[in-house]
Amino acid sequence: MNIKDEIKSLKEKNNAIILAHYYVPDEVQEIADYVGDSFYLSKVAAGTDADVLVLCGVSFMGESAKILNPEKTVLMPDINADCPMAHMASVKNIEKLRAEYDDTAVVCYINSTAELKSHSDVCVTSANALKIVQSLPNKNILFIPDMNLGRYVASKVPEKNFIFNDGCCPVHAALTAQDIISAKEKHPEALVLIHPECVPEALELADYIGSTSGIIEYASSSPCKEFIICTENGVLWELKNRNPNKSFYMVHDHFRCEDMKLITPEKVLDVLKNKTNQVSVSDELRDSSLKPLHRMLELSK
Ligand code: 13P
Ligand code: SF4
Repeated sequence: MNIKDEIKSLKEKNNAIILAHYYVPDEVQEIADYVGDSFYLSKVAAGTDADVLVLCGVSFMGESAKILNPEKTVLMPDINADCPMAHMASVKNIEKLRAEYDDTAVVCYINSTAELKSHSDVCVTSANALKIVQSLPNKNILFIPDMNLGRYVASKVPEKNFIFNDGCCPVHAALTAQDIISAKEKHPEALVLIHPECVPEALELADYIGSTSGIIEYASSSPCKEFIICTENGVLWELKNRNPNKSFYMVHDHFRCEDMKLITPEKVLDVLKNKTNQVSVSDELRDSSLKPLHRMLELSK
Protein backbone atom coordinates (compact mmCIF):
# COMPACT_ATOMS: atom_id res chain seq x y z
CA MET A 1 0.00 0.00 0.00
CA ASN A 2 1.35 3.48 -0.78
CA ILE A 3 1.46 6.13 1.94
CA LYS A 4 -1.68 7.92 0.74
CA ASP A 5 -3.73 4.70 0.79
CA GLU A 6 -2.35 3.77 4.19
CA ILE A 7 -3.33 7.18 5.61
CA LYS A 8 -6.77 6.88 4.02
CA SER A 9 -7.45 3.47 5.52
CA LEU A 10 -6.23 4.55 8.98
CA LYS A 11 -8.46 7.62 8.80
CA GLU A 12 -11.48 5.43 8.07
CA LYS A 13 -10.58 2.92 10.78
CA ASN A 14 -10.16 5.66 13.43
CA ASN A 15 -12.89 8.07 12.27
CA ALA A 16 -10.10 10.65 11.86
CA ILE A 17 -9.79 13.84 9.86
CA ILE A 18 -6.68 15.71 8.74
CA LEU A 19 -6.66 19.50 9.06
CA ALA A 20 -3.83 21.50 7.50
CA HIS A 21 -2.79 25.13 7.43
CA TYR A 22 -1.88 26.71 4.07
CA TYR A 23 1.76 27.03 5.20
CA VAL A 24 2.51 23.30 5.53
CA PRO A 25 4.27 21.57 2.60
CA ASP A 26 2.26 20.90 -0.58
CA GLU A 27 2.31 17.13 -0.13
CA VAL A 28 0.66 17.54 3.31
CA GLN A 29 -2.00 19.94 1.98
CA GLU A 30 -2.67 17.33 -0.71
CA ILE A 31 -3.57 14.57 1.81
CA ALA A 32 -5.61 16.83 4.12
CA ASP A 33 -9.42 16.77 4.38
CA TYR A 34 -9.56 20.45 5.33
CA VAL A 35 -7.01 23.09 4.35
CA GLY A 36 -7.40 26.68 5.41
CA ASP A 37 -6.46 29.67 7.52
CA SER A 38 -6.45 29.64 11.33
CA PHE A 39 -10.08 30.82 11.57
CA TYR A 40 -11.35 28.13 9.20
CA LEU A 41 -9.39 25.42 11.02
CA SER A 42 -10.81 26.47 14.39
CA LYS A 43 -14.35 26.41 12.96
CA VAL A 44 -13.82 22.92 11.51
CA ALA A 45 -12.34 21.75 14.83
CA ALA A 46 -15.32 23.18 16.74
CA GLY A 47 -17.92 21.54 14.50
CA THR A 48 -16.57 18.10 13.60
CA ASP A 49 -17.98 14.76 14.72
CA ALA A 50 -14.73 12.92 13.96
CA ASP A 51 -13.10 11.14 16.92
CA VAL A 52 -9.50 11.91 15.98
CA LEU A 53 -8.13 15.20 14.61
CA VAL A 54 -4.68 15.32 13.05
CA LEU A 55 -3.59 18.96 13.16
CA CYS A 56 -0.98 19.72 10.49
CA GLY A 57 0.37 23.02 11.71
CA VAL A 58 2.00 24.50 14.80
CA SER A 59 1.27 23.80 18.47
CA PHE A 60 -1.23 26.61 19.14
CA MET A 61 -3.44 25.08 16.43
CA GLY A 62 -3.41 21.65 18.08
CA GLU A 63 -3.98 23.23 21.48
CA SER A 64 -6.96 25.26 20.23
CA ALA A 65 -8.48 22.15 18.62
CA LYS A 66 -8.09 20.25 21.92
CA ILE A 67 -9.60 23.10 23.97
CA LEU A 68 -12.60 23.12 21.64
CA ASN A 69 -12.85 19.29 21.73
CA PRO A 70 -11.65 17.95 25.10
CA GLU A 71 -13.20 14.53 24.53
CA LYS A 72 -11.50 14.01 21.15
CA THR A 73 -7.98 12.83 20.38
CA VAL A 74 -5.89 15.59 18.81
CA LEU A 75 -2.60 14.51 17.23
CA MET A 76 0.31 16.72 16.16
CA PRO A 77 2.52 15.17 13.44
CA ASP A 78 5.53 17.00 14.92
CA ILE A 79 5.39 18.26 18.51
CA ASN A 80 8.37 20.51 17.87
CA ALA A 81 6.41 22.58 15.34
CA ASP A 82 5.75 25.67 17.41
CA CYS A 83 5.05 29.31 16.59
CA PRO A 84 7.64 31.58 18.27
CA MET A 85 5.17 34.46 18.36
CA ALA A 86 2.74 32.37 20.45
CA HIS A 87 5.07 32.90 23.44
CA MET A 88 5.79 36.60 22.93
CA ALA A 89 3.61 38.02 25.70
CA SER A 90 3.61 37.59 29.45
CA VAL A 91 0.76 37.06 31.90
CA LYS A 92 2.52 39.42 34.33
CA ASN A 93 2.46 42.23 31.77
CA ILE A 94 -1.19 41.55 30.84
CA GLU A 95 -2.24 41.80 34.49
CA LYS A 96 -0.10 44.91 35.04
CA LEU A 97 -1.70 46.70 32.06
CA ARG A 98 -5.20 45.56 33.06
CA ALA A 99 -4.64 47.25 36.41
CA GLU A 100 -3.37 50.45 34.75
CA TYR A 101 -6.20 50.92 32.26
CA ASP A 102 -9.88 50.72 33.08
CA ASP A 103 -12.46 49.46 30.59
CA THR A 104 -9.92 47.26 28.79
CA ALA A 105 -10.46 44.22 26.60
CA VAL A 106 -7.49 41.89 26.22
CA VAL A 107 -7.66 40.78 22.59
CA CYS A 108 -5.53 37.72 21.93
CA TYR A 109 -4.43 36.65 18.47
CA ILE A 110 -5.08 32.91 18.16
CA ASN A 111 -1.32 32.51 17.51
CA SER A 112 -0.73 32.30 21.27
CA THR A 113 -0.32 29.74 24.04
CA ALA A 114 -3.37 28.46 25.92
CA GLU A 115 -2.00 30.22 28.99
CA LEU A 116 -2.10 33.62 27.24
CA LYS A 117 -5.59 32.88 25.93
CA SER A 118 -6.74 32.06 29.44
CA HIS A 119 -5.86 35.62 30.57
CA SER A 120 -7.70 37.22 27.62
CA ASP A 121 -11.23 38.37 26.96
CA VAL A 122 -11.52 37.33 23.33
CA CYS A 123 -9.43 35.57 20.68
CA VAL A 124 -9.13 36.76 17.09
CA THR A 125 -7.51 35.57 13.88
CA SER A 126 -6.25 37.72 11.04
CA ALA A 127 -9.53 36.99 9.21
CA ASN A 128 -11.85 38.32 11.92
CA ALA A 129 -9.77 40.67 14.14
CA LEU A 130 -11.18 43.87 12.69
CA LYS A 131 -14.82 42.79 12.94
CA ILE A 132 -14.40 41.53 16.49
CA VAL A 133 -12.53 44.57 17.81
CA GLN A 134 -15.16 46.86 16.24
CA SER A 135 -17.89 44.94 18.04
CA LEU A 136 -16.31 45.23 21.51
CA PRO A 137 -17.83 47.81 23.89
CA ASN A 138 -14.48 48.56 25.58
CA LYS A 139 -12.60 51.84 25.14
CA ASN A 140 -9.12 50.33 25.57
CA ILE A 141 -7.79 47.37 23.61
CA LEU A 142 -4.72 45.49 24.82
CA PHE A 143 -3.70 43.56 21.71
CA ILE A 144 -1.41 40.51 22.25
CA PRO A 145 0.95 39.08 21.10
CA ASP A 146 1.33 40.49 17.56
CA MET A 147 2.19 44.18 17.43
CA ASN A 148 1.87 44.33 13.63
CA LEU A 149 -1.62 42.84 13.41
CA GLY A 150 -2.55 45.05 16.36
CA ARG A 151 -1.28 48.18 14.61
CA TYR A 152 -3.14 47.24 11.43
CA VAL A 153 -6.44 46.79 13.31
CA ALA A 154 -5.82 50.03 15.25
CA SER A 155 -5.41 51.95 11.98
CA LYS A 156 -8.95 50.89 11.02
CA VAL A 157 -10.55 51.57 14.44
CA PRO A 158 -9.33 55.08 15.38
CA GLU A 159 -12.11 55.53 17.94
CA LYS A 160 -10.46 53.03 20.32
CA ASN A 161 -7.25 53.35 22.32
CA PHE A 162 -4.80 50.52 21.61
CA ILE A 163 -2.06 49.24 23.88
CA PHE A 164 0.42 47.11 21.97
CA ASN A 165 2.64 44.24 22.99
CA ASP A 166 6.16 43.79 21.74
CA GLY A 167 5.69 40.55 19.75
CA CYS A 168 5.70 39.66 16.08
CA CYS A 169 5.95 36.84 13.57
CA PRO A 170 9.65 36.68 12.68
CA VAL A 171 8.82 35.31 9.24
CA HIS A 172 6.42 38.12 8.26
CA ALA A 173 8.21 40.91 10.13
CA ALA A 174 11.38 40.25 8.12
CA LEU A 175 9.71 41.61 4.98
CA THR A 176 10.78 45.19 4.25
CA ALA A 177 9.15 47.90 2.16
CA GLN A 178 12.24 47.76 -0.09
CA ASP A 179 11.53 44.06 -0.85
CA ILE A 180 8.13 45.09 -2.20
CA ILE A 181 9.57 48.01 -4.18
CA SER A 182 12.13 45.65 -5.79
CA ALA A 183 9.49 43.03 -6.62
CA LYS A 184 7.26 45.75 -8.11
CA GLU A 185 10.14 46.91 -10.34
CA LYS A 186 10.43 43.37 -11.73
CA HIS A 187 6.65 42.91 -12.10
CA PRO A 188 5.07 46.37 -12.54
CA GLU A 189 1.64 45.01 -13.55
CA ALA A 190 1.30 42.73 -10.52
CA LEU A 191 -0.95 43.49 -7.54
CA VAL A 192 0.67 43.29 -4.09
CA LEU A 193 -1.20 41.00 -1.66
CA ILE A 194 0.03 41.05 1.93
CA HIS A 195 -0.65 39.47 5.33
CA PRO A 196 -1.28 41.88 8.26
CA GLU A 197 1.50 40.26 10.32
CA CYS A 198 3.89 42.34 8.14
CA VAL A 199 5.22 45.73 9.27
CA PRO A 200 3.11 48.89 8.63
CA GLU A 201 5.60 50.34 6.08
CA ALA A 202 5.14 47.20 3.97
CA LEU A 203 1.33 47.17 4.39
CA GLU A 204 1.22 50.74 3.06
CA LEU A 205 2.48 49.52 -0.33
CA ALA A 206 -0.12 46.77 -0.73
CA ASP A 207 -3.19 46.55 -2.95
CA TYR A 208 -4.84 44.06 -0.60
CA ILE A 209 -4.27 43.17 3.09
CA GLY A 210 -5.75 39.96 4.51
CA SER A 211 -5.41 36.51 6.02
CA THR A 212 -4.09 33.60 3.95
CA SER A 213 -7.66 32.72 2.89
CA GLY A 214 -8.34 36.37 2.15
CA ILE A 215 -5.28 36.55 -0.11
CA ILE A 216 -6.30 33.36 -1.94
CA GLU A 217 -9.91 34.56 -2.38
CA TYR A 218 -8.80 37.99 -3.56
CA ALA A 219 -6.38 36.60 -6.18
CA SER A 220 -8.91 34.02 -7.37
CA SER A 221 -11.71 36.53 -7.92
CA SER A 222 -9.56 39.37 -9.31
CA PRO A 223 -9.52 40.07 -13.06
CA CYS A 224 -5.79 40.81 -12.70
CA LYS A 225 -3.41 38.08 -13.91
CA GLU A 226 -0.26 38.74 -11.86
CA PHE A 227 0.32 38.98 -8.12
CA ILE A 228 3.20 39.59 -5.74
CA ILE A 229 2.64 37.41 -2.68
CA CYS A 230 3.72 38.75 0.71
CA THR A 231 3.10 35.84 3.04
CA GLU A 232 4.56 32.38 3.66
CA ASN A 233 5.25 30.47 0.44
CA GLY A 234 2.92 27.54 1.31
CA VAL A 235 -0.04 29.55 -0.04
CA LEU A 236 1.33 29.10 -3.58
CA TRP A 237 -0.01 25.54 -3.68
CA GLU A 238 -3.66 26.63 -3.36
CA LEU A 239 -3.15 29.81 -5.40
CA LYS A 240 -1.72 27.88 -8.37
CA ASN A 241 -4.26 25.04 -8.11
CA ARG A 242 -7.16 27.45 -8.19
CA ASN A 243 -5.65 29.81 -10.76
CA PRO A 244 -3.61 27.86 -13.33
CA ASN A 245 -3.67 30.79 -15.76
CA LYS A 246 -2.42 33.43 -13.33
CA SER A 247 1.16 34.22 -12.27
CA PHE A 248 2.26 34.44 -8.64
CA TYR A 249 5.63 35.88 -7.63
CA MET A 250 6.94 35.55 -4.09
CA VAL A 251 8.06 38.97 -2.84
CA HIS A 252 11.39 37.39 -1.86
CA ASP A 253 12.64 33.82 -2.00
CA HIS A 254 13.00 33.03 1.73
CA PHE A 255 9.43 33.66 2.92
CA ARG A 256 9.26 30.36 4.76
CA CYS A 257 8.11 29.26 8.23
CA GLU A 258 10.48 26.47 9.25
CA ASP A 259 8.09 25.26 11.95
CA MET A 260 5.23 24.74 9.49
CA LYS A 261 7.60 22.94 7.13
CA LEU A 262 8.38 20.31 9.80
CA ILE A 263 5.13 18.52 8.93
CA THR A 264 5.46 15.62 6.46
CA PRO A 265 3.07 12.88 5.21
CA GLU A 266 5.34 10.30 6.90
CA LYS A 267 4.81 12.01 10.29
CA VAL A 268 1.05 12.15 9.66
CA LEU A 269 1.06 8.40 8.98
CA ASP A 270 3.15 7.75 12.06
CA VAL A 271 0.84 9.58 14.50
CA LEU A 272 -2.25 8.02 12.97
CA LYS A 273 -0.74 4.56 13.30
CA ASN A 274 0.69 4.90 16.82
CA LYS A 275 -1.55 7.63 18.33
CA THR A 276 1.58 9.45 19.47
CA ASN A 277 2.00 13.21 20.05
CA GLN A 278 -1.45 13.56 21.63
CA VAL A 279 -2.23 17.13 22.69
CA SER A 280 -3.27 17.48 26.31
CA VAL A 281 -4.56 20.55 28.13
CA SER A 282 -5.37 20.51 31.85
CA ASP A 283 -9.04 20.93 32.82
CA GLU A 284 -8.26 24.20 34.58
CA LEU A 285 -6.43 25.68 31.57
CA ARG A 286 -9.08 24.36 29.24
CA ASP A 287 -11.91 26.02 31.18
CA SER A 288 -10.22 29.41 31.22
CA SER A 289 -9.00 29.41 27.61
CA LEU A 290 -12.25 28.09 26.09
CA LYS A 291 -14.19 31.27 26.91
CA PRO A 292 -12.19 33.66 24.64
CA LEU A 293 -12.19 31.07 21.83
CA HIS A 294 -15.97 30.63 22.06
CA ARG A 295 -16.44 34.38 22.19
CA MET A 296 -14.44 34.67 18.95
CA LEU A 297 -16.62 32.07 17.24
CA GLU A 298 -19.77 33.87 18.45
CA LEU A 299 -18.69 37.42 17.55
CA SER A 300 -17.46 36.47 14.09
CA LYS A 301 -20.77 34.89 13.05
P1 13P B 1 -3.87 32.95 8.87
O1 13P B 1 -3.79 31.73 7.97
O2 13P B 1 -4.98 32.85 9.80
O3 13P B 1 -3.87 34.18 8.03
O4 13P B 1 -2.58 32.94 9.80
C1 13P B 1 -1.32 33.17 9.36
C2 13P B 1 -0.31 32.56 10.25
O5 13P B 1 0.76 33.06 10.43
C3 13P B 1 -0.62 31.30 10.90
O6 13P B 1 0.45 30.89 11.63
FE1 SF4 C 1 4.13 31.69 13.72
FE2 SF4 C 1 4.81 33.27 11.75
FE3 SF4 C 1 5.18 30.65 11.49
FE4 SF4 C 1 2.69 31.69 11.47
S1 SF4 C 1 4.29 32.04 9.98
S2 SF4 C 1 3.41 29.90 12.60
S3 SF4 C 1 2.92 33.39 12.91
S4 SF4 C 1 6.20 32.02 12.96
